[in-house]
Amino acid sequence: MLKSLRNIESPVVLGILGGGQLAKMLCQAAYRLGINVAVIESGANSPAGDMTKADFPGGWNDDAELHRFLDACDIVTLENEFIDPSVLEIVESKRKLFPCSQTMRLVQDKFHQKDTFRKAGLSVPDFDAIEDLNKLIRFSREFSFPFVLKARTHGYDGYGNATIFNEDEIETSWNFFQKNQTKREMLAERFIKFQKELAVLVARNESGEIMVYPCVETIQYRHICHAVIAPAEISNEISKMAQDIAVAAVESINGVGIFGVELFLTEDNKILINEIAPRPHNSGHYTIEACYTSQFENCIRAVCNLPLGSSKMIKPGAAMVNLLGTRDGSGVPTNLTEFFRHREVWLHLYNKKQSRNGRKMGHVTALGDSPNEAFNRARAAAESVIW
Ligand SMILES: Nc1ncnc2c1ncn2[C@@H]1O[C@H](COP(=O)(O)OP(=O)(O)O)[C@@H](O)[C@H]1O
Ligand SMILES: [Mg+2]
Repeated sequence: MLKSLRNIESPVVLGILGGGQLAKMLCQAAYRLGINVAVIESGANSPAGDMTKADFPGGWNDDAELHRFLDACDIVTLENEFIDPSVLEIVESKRKLFPCSQTMRLVQDKFHQKDTFRKAGLSVPDFDAIEDLNKLIRFSREFSFPFVLKARTHGYDGYGNATIFNEDEIETSWNFFQKNQTKREMLAERFIKFQKELAVLVARNESGEIMVYPCVETIQYRHICHAVIAPAEISNEISKMAQDIAVAAVESINGVGIFGVELFLTEDNKILINEIAPRPHNSGHYTIEACYTSQFENCIRAVCNLPLGSSKMIKPGAAMVNLLGTRDGSGVPTNLTEFFRHREVWLHLYNKKQSRNGRKMGHVTALGDSPNEAFNRARAAAESVIW
């Protein structure tokens, strides 16, 4: 079935490396555009794998499964940045991959990522690679406390980060990341006392066309995103500055696809780049209902080198609140009846089979005449969902 569809003009089977919620929402956007999807993920019944007959649950580390997946798709994108570069090169030897392996190499290691931005003249918090405990101690003397120790690779939702507040914590934090089998490459960076955390999504296609989304505020507790407010309540000048920086960041890594650029707005109104995500980003889930073209649709348009859609919001305010797991157990909440009493909100449940404390299980979006009105509505509805 997949083969016969290829006779139709334009790419028709989009391959996605990864089967989580970002892939699921990419699938939803793809189907609306008449594009089929193939999903590869290790393990059956992933949120996105469940949406297509072209599900490859053997995962990309199984070479034969990877080749079967590649045979089934025309063009490939990804939903996570942790895929081994050697796998990405195999993908590229057979199909077009966006973002390409070269972009991914720059992004996958937070040290190379920050170094690339710094070399492009973009501001990032002061940072350095940390090879051993002595270097960490020297860093603490130069930049004082607190500061943040980060694993260079495979960090997400704060797993991989530790804030160090005093001398006593240096060795414990270092040892935590250097346990025999899990010795990790690290960097340290100055702790930024920010006013707000901001994020800007940028879509860029192969021809270099760019679509930038409104600058939003992201609210993190314990390094996990809890809510997004769109647009951020900041001056037009700062908002424009954030958008310009985000575009320059994407260009500096020659990014094609959709990119979430995480930023710090400092107390003296400077903008520093925290990091870039080379895929749909949690800060952009609100775009599904709030913008003419969602981040997922523009990701697909970008990787297929189609003209990009408008990032304009259809209402003055929008907000998204994450539904985070509160326990270990079933991924299905118990009291949806209560949730559905809330009007004018959208519920997304990712269909993850297992919940975990802090795991992203779904989200709620609301629109409003102001960002605050939308936030209050989304928050009230989100609070009624209980696992
Ligand atoms: N240098 C820093 N100063 C202050 N807060 C930080 C710093 N780095 C990270 N954080 C906080 O931790 C969160 C997660 O860190 P980040 O580096 O983005 O890791 P992850 O890859 O887990 O998203 C950030 O969104 C921010 O709230
Ligand atoms: Mg982050």
